[in-house]
Amino acid sequence: MPEPQNVPEEYSHVPSDSYILQRHYAASARLNLQHHLYRQAIGYLLHPSIPIQEDMKVADIACGTGIWLLDLADAFPPNAILDGFDISADQFPHESTLPPNVTFGVLDGMKEIPEELVGKYDVVRVSLIVLVVKDGEPGGWIENLMRLLKPGGYLQWTEGNMPAYIARHTTHPSDPARFPNMHAFEQFYLSMLSKQPPGIHDWVTHLGTHFEKHGLQEVEYKQFDVPKRYWPAWTDVMMLTAEEVS
Ligand SMILES: C[S@@+](CC[C@H](N)C(=O)[O-])C[C@H]1O[C@@H](n2cnc3c(N)ncnc32)[C@H](O)[C@@H]1O
Repeated sequence: MPEPQNVPEEYSHVPSDSYILQRHYAASARLNLQHHLYRQAIGYLLHPSIPIQEDMKVADIACGTGIWLLDLADAFPPNAILDGFDISADQFPHESTLPPNVTFGVLDGMKEIPEELVGKYDVVRVSLIVLVVKDGEPGGWIENLMRLLKPGGYLQWTEGNMPAYIARHTTHPSDPARFPNMHAFEQFYLSMLSKQPPGIHDWVTHLGTHFEKHGLQEVEYKQFDVPKRYWPAWTDVMMLTAEEVS
């Protein structure tokens, strides 16, 4: 792949796995801002119906910078186990900065779960893997996340419904000749919307149904709107995301 022209070196890194976003410091800052915006919109870190216990074990899969666990750490005693996993350690904070109950490790959430992690966690959490889930089918991820859970454990999945967002807001699609990368980005998101047949399912909108199909019980699917005062900040995040992809 040819190097992009006129791009500073730290912005021209292409991840060696198939991840289409970046992992440089600006990408980490974007993830952290995004996390705080999601937190504002949702109103909690851990779903309020999940009881917090002394020796609770929580795993955040595809955790990126680990910001969700770092925010959660204060709510748990030092003997709780808060484990963050990601396919890449590039965005993990340095271990010298971690609270005593937080650790990070490398794990591919799409591969077989190592035996020592099977059935280990009370809560498994995942967020914002819409660009990682392949072919509009989250089933493999759901199965793997469930394997990490103790019987009776909780799965909490926070997702950005980007295809629906783009469909609502893309009234003037980018000219493919002038803005090929932006055009591809819009098409990528739009391709996730239901098209019958054939087509890729809009799995984010139907995540609750996917959960039930895989045997999860007491499923709650909630949609949150972005408060208007945060629209400009969310737009900045969307633009930064588009820049990373391009
Ligand atoms: C958009 S980021 C979201 C990070 C974090 N969950 C958050 O909400 O800030 C997606 C993350 O998925 C990770 N990822 C991609 N493929 C993965 C895989 N197969 N297994 C585990 N993590 C993966 C990426 O490295 C990246 O950190």
